[in-house]
Amino acid sequence: MSDSFTSATKVTMKQRKYIIRPAGFEDVREIYQVIKEHPREVLPRAISDIVQNIDRFMVAELKGRIVGTASWQILPEIGRVSEPSVEIKSVSVARDCQGLGVGTALLRAVIRHVRTYHPVQIVVLTFSPDYFRRLGFVETPKEKLMHKLYMGCINCTKYDSPFTCPEVAMTLKPRRSAPRPRTPSK
Ligand SMILES: CC(C)(COP(=O)(O)OP(=O)(O)OC[C@H]1O[C@@H](n2cnc3c(N)ncnc32)[C@H](O)[C@@H]1OP(=O)(O)O)[C@@H](O)C(=O)NCCC(=O)NCCS
Repeated sequence: MSDSFTSATKVTMKQRKYIIRPAGFEDVREIYQVIKEHPREVLPRAISDIVQNIDRFMVAELKGRIVGTASWQILPEIGRVSEPSVEIKSVSVARDCQGLGVGTALLRAVIRHVRTYHPVQIVVLTFSPDYFRRLGFVETPKEKLMHKLYMGCINCTKYDSPFTCPEVAMTLKPRRSAPRPRTPSK
């Protein structure tokens, strides 16, 4: 596991200290509540879904309370096994803690972590394109994200088609990092 994921980052902003760290099972109920605060912008996640994917969540902790979360999922590309995308989802900050940099710090930590997998791109579907543009995401036609449409949107209960859904699709091309060292075969 990469250092970026196992370590916690302390952030001080506007006199409030919070920690960005990987989530644990003890955080599940608070993650559920923070996501549930934003039913218009973020799809609710069932408790069981959060438990099963806890290794794909980061949280922001302020004085022992979970005030923000972000998660990700891997979108495989059929026929091109080394070229999956990673979608960042469930980005949520408690209403009384917005504007403190929590969302940005969580997103930076998740992006840093998922880059270590070398995805071809990082994807978001969002009602806040301007927010993600600040982090380097650019708009992309939904037709280019068929894997996402098949894995997620096909089960959507809010809109009858991903093409009438008002969420904007955006991608971030990951910086190319050094190739992984190869272990010589014996
Ligand atoms: C969007 C969200 C994650 C931002 O988190 P945050 O911790 O409040 O944001 P930060 O403190 O990191 O960033 C604040 C900056 O982003 C801007 N910003 C915040 N929300 C924004 C939005 N929806 N669109 C554009 N800019 C936004 C603020 O104006 C502020 O700008 P400034 O630094 O120039 O003053 C948070 O408001 C939230 O949980 N919203 C509801 C759920 C949601 O929309 N999630 C994203 C769905 S993919």
